Amino acid sequence: MTAPVRVLMVCLGNICRSPTAHIVFARRVAEAGLQDQVLVDSAGTGDWHIGHPPDARSCAAAAARGYDMSALRARQVQARDFHEFDLVLAMDENNLRDLQRLAPPQHRHKLRLFMDFADMDERSVPDPYYGEAEDFQRVLDLVETAADALLRHLRQRQQE
Ligand code: 4NP
Repeated sequence: MTAPVRVLMVCLGNICRSPTAHIVFARRVAEAGLQDQVLVDSAGTGDWHIGHPPDARSCAAAAARGYDMSALRARQVQARDFHEFDLVLAMDENNLRDLQRLAPPQHRHKLRLFMDFADMDERSVPDPYYGEAEDFQRVLDLVETAADALLRHLRQRQQE
């Protein structure tokens, strides 16, 4: 049996985008019956929201599509994450730059933009924190597309 692939979703606060990516991707993985082979977590580069539940606007947008984010709590990226995870996926280019500064050189190859997996023009999931309800919907649209694409990518890799 091969070791599971460990995927860490990362944004700034770990209360809007990365917990959304966490819960959506975990659902895709479970629906594919791969929950023992693909492990999912999320974290933020910032420390302001450590221990907080996801933003109520993210929870509401996710609940409208059948996802329950209420059990998640924010945490900050830690040095050991770069050792323990196989893929560390940034929601935007600022998050990616911060991760590149934090990661030991031998683990930098694990860092990617989450949206890189989706066949879309967007490179980032835009920060909705100071936005409107429609910005939270947009986060879910982008995250659902990228989560499907990431699952396809991992399944392909598994078959190689
Ligand atoms: P997230 O959104 O990075 O998607 O969780 C944000 C959450 C909080 C803040 C910024 C972005 N903040 O400035 O507190």
